[in-house]
Amino acid sequence: MVMRMSEYFSNLYLKFWGPKLDRLAEKEVSDILGIYEVYVGRKPQKVFDLGAGWGRHMLIFHEKGIEPWGIEREEIFVKHFRETAPNEIKNHLIHEDITQWQIPEDMQGQFDLALSLFSSIGWSDDNKVFQKAHDILKPGGIFIVDTDNRDAYVVKPPSRTWQKVEGGIVLDKHRINWKDSMLITKREIHAEDGNIYTLNRQMRLYSLHEIVAMAENAGLTFLGAFGDLHMGGWSIRAGRNVVVLKKEG
Ligand SMILES: C[S@@+](CC[C@H](N)C(=O)[O-])C[C@H]1O[C@@H](n2cnc3c(N)ncnc32)[C@H](O)[C@@H]1O
Repeated sequence: MVMRMSEYFSNLYLKFWGPKLDRLAEKEVSDILGIYEVYVGRKPQKVFDLGAGWGRHMLIFHEKGIEPWGIEREEIFVKHFRETAPNEIKNHLIHEDITQWQIPEDMQGQFDLALSLFSSIGWSDDNKVFQKAHDILKPGGIFIVDTDNRDAYVVKPPSRTWQKVEGGIVLDKHRINWKDSMLITKREIHAEDGNIYTLNRQMRLYSLHEIVAMAENAGLTFLGAFGDLHMGGWSIRAGRNVVVLKKEG
């Protein structure tokens, strides 16, 4: 049976990637806290996750005694968070598009750390995403962005890839529209039950210098770049742009 789906972030994403990504969340949060500690010298008290998905990182921050908030536009992810999160933080994931969101007065300038993790930019007007990150941060606050490195795709253009996920195998056919740096992926999920799901994705890729320019336009200063969340060295070939930015005090 072949089922066609157009949405990329959907119940299929949760079903096939959810368990695998949930298992990585604890390590990713300790890496993020490691980066914050290097630049600030202590733990953050309040964290805001922009494009938080189903809040897998928020749950870990909460377990560590750090107050997590987040925003996510996909209803299915927000619903999942509200069903699984402890009562104290059930309403901490705001269901809204970041670019449309009016930050309530009592949230402006309140956060030590803002996050955009696992390629959560590239899907909308990212200048606005950087502006929101700036506006929710305290003076001296840190914004960590973790997204694909466009330049690594120039060094090694993507073609076909496959990966094993929970309950199936995923085949991706990628191409890049170099005119606007859009990564266009046609995805097939071959589920163990015999179903095949097809999805399309279009995501804007960014070079490091473009991220720095967007950040500076929003009033954020560049502190450093890494090739992964555990502070591996950045290079043109690094798969990730992990960029550390600061709202000056
Ligand atoms: C690749 S997922 C990563 C989710 C999460 N950061 C994680 O690591 O599990 C990117 C997420 O960003 C969300 N997103 C992208 N643009 C958004 C926007 N403008 N407003 C709210 N959410 C957005 C998507 O809906 C998606 O859930």
